[in-house]
Order: sequence, then C-alpha cells, then structure tokens
Amino acid sequence: MIEQNEFSVRLLNWYDQTKRVLPWRDCPTPYRVWISEIMLQQTRVEAVIPYFNRFVSELPDVVALSKVDDDYLNKLWEGLGYYSRVRNLKKSAKIIVETFHGEIPNNIEDLESLPGIGNYTSGAILSIAYEQRFTAVDGNVLRVFARLMANRNNIKDPNEKKKVKKLVYSLLPIKRIGDFNQGLMEIGAKVCLPNGSPLCGICPLQDFCLSYQKKIVSEIPVKQIKKARKLEKKTVLIMSHKSLYAVEQRENKGLLAGLYQFPLLDGHFTLDEIQKQYHHALHIKKIDSAKHIFTHLEWHIEAYAMSFETTIGGYYWVDKNDIEHVYSIPNAFIKYKKMILGGAI
Ligand code: ADE
Repeated sequence: MIEQNEFSVRLLNWYDQTKRVLPWRDCPTPYRVWISEIMLQQTRVEAVIPYFNRFVSELPDVVALSKVDDDYLNKLWEGLGYYSRVRNLKKSAKIIVETFHGEIPNNIEDLESLPGIGNYTSGAILSIAYEQRFTAVDGNVLRVFARLMANRNNIKDPNEKKKVKKLVYSLLPIKRIGDFNQGLMEIGAKVCLPNGSPLCGICPLQDFCLSYQKKIVSEIPVKQIKKARKLEKKTVLIMSHKSLYAVEQRENKGLLAGLYQFPLLDGHFTLDEIQKQYHHALHIKKIDSAKHIFTHLEWHIEAYAMSFETTIGGYYWVDKNDIEHVYSIPNAFIKYKKMILGGAI
C-alpha cells in the first residue's frame, strides 16, 4: 500500500524544485492546456514548444481556431505529424463555439463528446486548467506505475490501465491535482525513462518502488511483441520548370488528408521506365532515397528529379517561398523539401 499523503508530498516537492519551465505551464488556461496536450500526444516536449508558441500566438482563442483556413492551420502543424489531431482541434473549436458558447467545457461528458478528446486529454484539461479531481494517465504514467507496482502485465491492456487510473485516483492530493498529474508525467519523462535506463538514484518515489526494491526495474514494463508495419513502395517526382516546382494536394480523407506533396507514385520504377513515362522531360536523374515511418506503415521512397520546358497540367507550380511558407508538406517529404530549399535540385 502506498501512503497517499507521503507520496504526493514527495512528488509535489520534487516537482516544485525540478519542473521544467514550459510555456503552457505559465498560464494554464483551458485553451492552452487543450492545445498543448493534443500537441504532446505522440510528440516530445522539446519539439512541441516552438509549435505551441506559434500556434497560440496566431490563434489565441477558440473562436480564432474555429474560423481558421484549413491550409493555414495545416501549415501551423507542419512537421508535427498525426494531422488528424489538428483536424479534430478545429472541429472541436467549431462545436465549442456553436454549442458551448465558446467556453471549453468544464465537465467530463461534454469534453469527451468533442472529437479528439479522450479520457487522458479530458483528465489533463479538468485537472490542470480547472483543478478538478481527475487523473491524466498517459503512457509515461503507465510505465511509472508498472515499475512502482512491479507489474509485469501488459501496460497497454485496458484492464491494466483501469487499475492504474484507480490507484492514481486514490493517491490524488486534496489540492494541486494538476501539478500532481504533471509531476507524474514529469517523472516519466525525466526520471523513470523507458528502455531500461531509469535514473532511480534521483527518483523522489524510490522508497515506494517495488521494482527498485526487487532490483527488476530494467525488466519492467515487459516488452510486448509489436506487429510488423506494412511496407509500401513510393516514388517521389521532383518536377521543375525554371524556379517552379510541382506540388499536388492529397485526397481529403485518409493518411495525410488534404496536405500537399511532390507528385507521388505507388511503386518503384527504373530510370528507364520513368524516362519512357515522362519523355517530355528535358532531363531526369535519380536522387536520394528516403524512408518514412508512420504508426502502422512504412514508406520506402525512391525519387527522381526532372525538369520541363513548360509547366504541365494537373499540378500547382510553386516557388521555394511557397514551399517554405504556404503549402503544408508533411515530414515524409522533408528530405526533398530540404534539397529544393537548399538548392540541391
Ligand atoms: N506530456 C503530456 N502532457 C504534459 C504536460 N502537461 N507536461 C509535461 N509533459 C507532458
């Protein structure tokens, strides 16, 4: 049994002394907490900071977010990945304006009725922004508790998650619920590191940790066998005419919906095959290959650069400035974007 008061005092003291200064912590309004928590899903804190600052300065409130142009919104998100997150942010903002008078709900039912807000995010908003008694159990917190309890079960199992939530709930302090939840996340991010390399020597929760006592910290959480990702072969075409480059918009649904890309073909092709297909090109050469990993999918990308005497139909022909500042081109294409901006092609 973990003693509730002792646990939260140790955690909160440690949090007060060592917490990182993060922009959403300065002024944890519901809007700022919501945006930061969505950005922090799947993305590291260091990577999120500049995106967060730009996002809240360009779109300072729910109304601004509800009205923003989709292309501009995608550009603000460019490079963060998992673009369904930002589509859901705008959808939710519209609902908040239309149904909740522009106020981010302060109750779990209304919050979780919004697209993209699940149990973790609702708990984070309610505890951090509204100081309500809710847990916010993410992957980091699951790992911390698997170790604290020397639990070898699969931490992704919904039943295990339920047990951890119940335990965390029983440990919540009377006050500073948001700081307590963020303290647990901070332990996961800075001390109780994944992959068998936790910094137990500096952990304020060491006395409570059964894995530490049993010297089995490196074995927990027990690694689960991951399903192999599906591989897809793709070919990127960097088509240019003078200082212009061809881009196309992806379909409005599915992977990277609505974003822009350099013309993309399914499959790999020999130089000969490409030359036959694009016989109008002035010059064609094979350029660097690339690999991009999505959650369930891996793209193996080959690429050709080709120049044309005129622009050809079916594409937007855009200059470097537009590629950099206007069109949102996802990270799968970053190598080619950098080559273009750097003058290599
Ligand atoms: N990860 C997710 N939410 C976080 C928060 N509020 N602070 C630090 N890391 C986080």
